[in-house]
Amino acid sequence: MKKEWWHNQIAYQIYPKSFYDSNGDGIGDLGGIIEKLDYLKELGVGILWLSPIYVSPLADQGYDIADYRRIDPRFGTMEDMRRLLEEAHKRDIHILMDLVVNHCSDEHEWFQKAIADPEGKYGKYFYIRDIKDGKLPCNWRSYFGGPAWDKLPGHEDKVYLHVFHKKQPDLNWENPEVREEIYDMINWWLDQGLDGFRLDAIINIKKALPFRDYPADRDDGLCSTSSMLREAEGVGDFLREMRDRTFKPHHAFTVGEVFNEKPEEIPDFIGEDGYFCSMYDFSATIFGQAPGGWHTYRDITPDDYRNCVFETQRKVADVGFISNIIENHDEPRGVSRYIPEGELTDAGKKMLGTAYFFLKGIPWIYQGQEIGMENIPVSSIEEVDDISSIDAYRVAREAGLTDKEALKLIEKYGRDNARTPFQWNGGKEAGFTEGSPWLRVNPNYKTLNLEAERKDPDSVFHYYKKLAALRKDPEYEDTFVYGRLTPCLEDRHNVMAYCRETEKQRILVMANFQKEPQKLPLPGGVKKILCNNLKEEPQWGKDILLEGYQALVMELME
Ligand code: GLC
Ligand code: CA
Repeated sequence: MKKEWWHNQIAYQIYPKSFYDSNGDGIGDLGGIIEKLDYLKELGVGILWLSPIYVSPLADQGYDIADYRRIDPRFGTMEDMRRLLEEAHKRDIHILMDLVVNHCSDEHEWFQKAIADPEGKYGKYFYIRDIKDGKLPCNWRSYFGGPAWDKLPGHEDKVYLHVFHKKQPDLNWENPEVREEIYDMINWWLDQGLDGFRLDAIINIKKALPFRDYPADRDDGLCSTSSMLREAEGVGDFLREMRDRTFKPHHAFTVGEVFNEKPEEIPDFIGEDGYFCSMYDFSATIFGQAPGGWHTYRDITPDDYRNCVFETQRKVADVGFISNIIENHDEPRGVSRYIPEGELTDAGKKMLGTAYFFLKGIPWIYQGQEIGMENIPVSSIEEVDDISSIDAYRVAREAGLTDKEALKLIEKYGRDNARTPFQWNGGKEAGFTEGSPWLRVNPNYKTLNLEAERKDPDSVFHYYKKLAALRKDPEYEDTFVYGRLTPCLEDRHNVMAYCRETEKQRILVMANFQKEPQKLPLPGGVKKILCNNLKEEPQWGKDILLEGYQALVMELME
């Protein structure tokens, strides 16, 4: 495998709106990110992805873009963006923006022109169809609820497609003019020194056409778009063209948000000459989901989590670099999700961090994960901002759940969990803003915050720094980056263990996902303990005793 600069990086996702507010309007901004670059550098971050900061009505928090070439004034100016690139590059931090090109905003000039003249040039930028005999073109359900078709404003007989929110009309990738506009825009950004992109919802750009119904999967008579995506063929043609016209000539780093890929497609996506450099492993998330709505989701037990992760590791093996996460801006906090309620302690948080950090691939940290931020309690639907939670609440109530039960689902799965402001300190609004924050701060900020953790050498924050430093330790880096991954003890309940090995080194990672200790067999003699999340020094011989929620990284004898 040809070595690339990004192979050994630690990546970090910023959700700009909630990271740090530098001017007191309650909204995080580019100025705030610039102020915190030294912090990110200290943590060991080399790649920084910013969720969208383009001009947007923020109907889906920036994933609805009204102008791809301007920064939303709430986040800053183009000058701030240039300064961010410059300051980040001084610190060897690469910046990625979010590339949201399955859809734009209904307030984008293209859509406005399409409304003005649906038969004209811009009408063909979208999927606009006539309503025939009062029927929509097909029965697809939008990801955020309801039919994926809405009336084209001002045209009683016409509808447009939006697989996400109705303020996110889908762009028609079949139209070469649309693709040219997009490539142009990508190149324009890369020419300004941007290092790459995270590709949003990218699998959706290819639709199975002509539009047709699929069997309904709920009482509403609609079907999830995943039924359609399974049949859609040819997304690769678009992705290859985009890569060749934009990313490749710029040597840009790209990471895809890819759901629904077929296993045999992984080499096409992230292999030697793949569409992207990397893509996220969402296997655990997908495992938990079900078509009926959040009340039909299943819990992901530690064994499920391990099995999903190992399955991905097997599929990807030497093909390319997967991106490993425990959370992002669309998911609950990893520690609240993978550690049983009532058992969440710093030990467990560190254990989970250790378990995924040394997997093969690129470890990603989502903002606040490094201080152990948790899900937020919800007491009423009025408090909720996330559009997908609001829809899930409605679906749950219609299915007969009580208000309390439905809110519980939001606490468990809602996207606000990851979007509450970063907890910088124990002062007013957790030090996130001088003003009032756009989304409420998690009430646990008084004790759970960076300032407090800085003072405590045993904190989750200091531990994450250790994880990052170990992964980058020249003595072991090659093994962590390129070493083979072999799962171990897969039949053991609540254990995640794997070996990373090269010709000259063998490293064992072991994590105990329960509060009771466990005695586990060792595949070889221990040469050195490289990382331990507890004070207890483990005793070993043929076996090793792991305390509750203990995780160890060990170098084995050759
Ligand atoms: C992706 C984003 C999510 C957004 C959606 C629509 O899944 O991560 O936040 O709502 O795409 O753009
Ligand atoms: Ca601000």
